[in-house]
Formats: sequence, structure tokens, C-alpha cells
Amino acid sequence: MMKHFSIAVTSVMTSVMAILLFSNALAHHNSPESLEARVAAVGTLNIGSDGAAAGAATSEADSAAAEDGVQDGETVYNTTCAACHASGVAGAPILGAVDDWEERIEQGMDSLVERALLGFTGSSGVMPPKGGNVSLSDDAVTAAVQFMVDQIK
Ligand code: HEC
Repeated sequence: MMKHFSIAVTSVMTSVMAILLFSNALAHHNSPESLEARVAAVGTLNIGSDGAAAGAATSEADSAAAEDGVQDGETVYNTTCAACHASGVAGAPILGAVDDWEERIEQGMDSLVERALLGFTGSSGVMPPKGGNVSLSDDAVTAAVQFMVDQIK
């Protein structure tokens, strides 16, 4: 009787140990540290290739802009305006969304450009002057407005 009891205890203990070891291994496997390390490894790889390419592209665009003084509208849109106008952040009319733009475009290009340059507060939100990027030239902002309007036609 005593022997059976101790066998039972031993096997329970063994199971508990096994479960503890197993869950410990699982916990370690999914621990934030190891996840972080793995994510970091992947992230570093991405920055190494894509990041460098993107950086090179940006400085190419910058120097092209410096040469002729005008950045093309799509570049300006992507670097400054898309922050709000891509998804409608803060009530911004969404690029390519006819309903968002039809009435605005009816005001005419001059009015759109003036509001993009000087900023304005309308019924849906606040458009900051030059989209908040005051280093942009007036021509660059005008080109970006033209690019945005062109997406509606
Ligand atoms: C911080 C967010 C934000 C950024 C960045 C931004 N806009 Fe806007 N923009 C808005 C909002 C919000 C409106 C709508 C305001 C309203 O009608 O109430 C708007 C409206 C406009 C309009 C319509 C004006 C009109 O007369 O209806 C134009 C054109 C425009 N933006 C151009 C630009 C350009 C060009 C850039 C980049 C240089 C830019 N925006 C960047 C928020 C932004």
C-alpha cells in the first residue's frame, strides 16, 4: 500500500516537473526578449537594404529640387501632404476621393492653392499653411495641389 502510494506521488511529481519544464521552455521561447531579438534582427536587415535605398532616393529628390528650384507635385505630396490626405487624418479630403474633392475643385485652382499656401480652417478640420512644412516653396505646394486635383479627373 505504501509502495503504491509513493509510486503515485513520484509519478505526479514527475508530471508536474515535466509540465513546469515544458511551460518554462514555452515561456522562454515566447518571452519578450527573444521576440524582440528576432524582430530586431529582421528590422535591422530591412533598414540595411530598403532604408539605405529610401535615403538615397530622398537625397536624390532633394538635389534635383535644388537644381531646378521646383519639386514635382507627387514628391511633395508624398513627403508632406500624404500624412493627412492619404487617409483623411484630421478631416483632410482624401487623395482620389471624388466626394471629398468635387466641391472644393469647383472653387477653382487659385482658391485651392491659396488655402494650401496660407492654410485655412473649414468645416471638416484645419489645413495648416503649406501642410505644416514651411520650408516648401510656393511652387512646390502649387505642384502638390495640382497633383492632388489631377487624381480626381
Ligand atoms: C496636418 C494635416 C494636413 C496636412 C499635412 C496637409 N493638409 Fe491639406 N487639408 C487638411 C485638412 C484638415 C483639410 C480640410 C479643411 C476643411 O475643409 O475643413 C485640408 C484641405 C486641403 C485642400 C482643400 C482646400 C479647399 O479649398 O477646400 C488642399 C488643396 C490641400 N489641403 C492641400 C494640401 C497640400 C498641397 C498639402 C501638402 C503640402 C497638404 N494639404 C497637407 C489637412 C492637412
